[in-house]
Amino acid sequence: MDIDRLIVTFDRGLRTLFAPAQTLRPVPGEALSNGQLSERARQEAAALMRVNHAGEICAQALYQGQAVTARDVRAKAALEQAAREETEHLAWTERRIEELGGRKSLLNPFWYAGSFAMGAAAGLLGDRWNLGFLAETERQVVEHLEGHLQRLPPDDVKSRAVLEQMKTDEARHATSALEEGAAVLPEPARVAMRLASRVMTRTAFWL
Ligand SMILES: [Fe+2]
Ligand SMILES: [Fe+2]
Repeated sequence: MDIDRLIVTFDRGLRTLFAPAQTLRPVPGEALSNGQLSERARQEAAALMRVNHAGEICAQALYQGQAVTARDVRAKAALEQAAREETEHLAWTERRIEELGGRKSLLNPFWYAGSFAMGAAAGLLGDRWNLGFLAETERQVVEHLEGHLQRLPPDDVKSRAVLEQMKTDEARHATSALEEGAAVLPEPARVAMRLASRVMTRTAFWL
């Protein structure tokens, strides 16, 4: 990697972690009014949205990592479109955490670094596996979001709207990776990914 590329990559990482993310689409549920949330429900919702925000930090890092090592231009274009939407997810979850009076995960730099390394490693395996890794990640994120939609306080309609739209987007990311020729990952890889994301989601709920 040349020095310019290194600087751009480093700059993107810093922005992801420390600058507010931008969104082109309106924030889902923006027009809805805040339901009456008890203090407990508010805290629970803020913790769940912190986990989802940390997940989007990971998505940014995975895509950045993959973009650094991926070779095929076609796969790159698919990755870039998805990455733009991930930036919107980052913006939406960030906004929702603020509205709920919560805070972001203190370990975001750590999640970013770990995911970046995983993305870069996947990118080195070539496009079929790279896209396979992406498709599997998105599939697992959809499952995860379904779980959170169950766990969210029923009155938190705004967080719900955000997660619903994210779920739609992530499912589309998985489909487009499959259309681009994603390989199906072997079972041990899928299990390892699930375990890694469990560590993140459980920790980010508290930290
Ligand atoms: Fe996302
Ligand atoms: Fe996605």
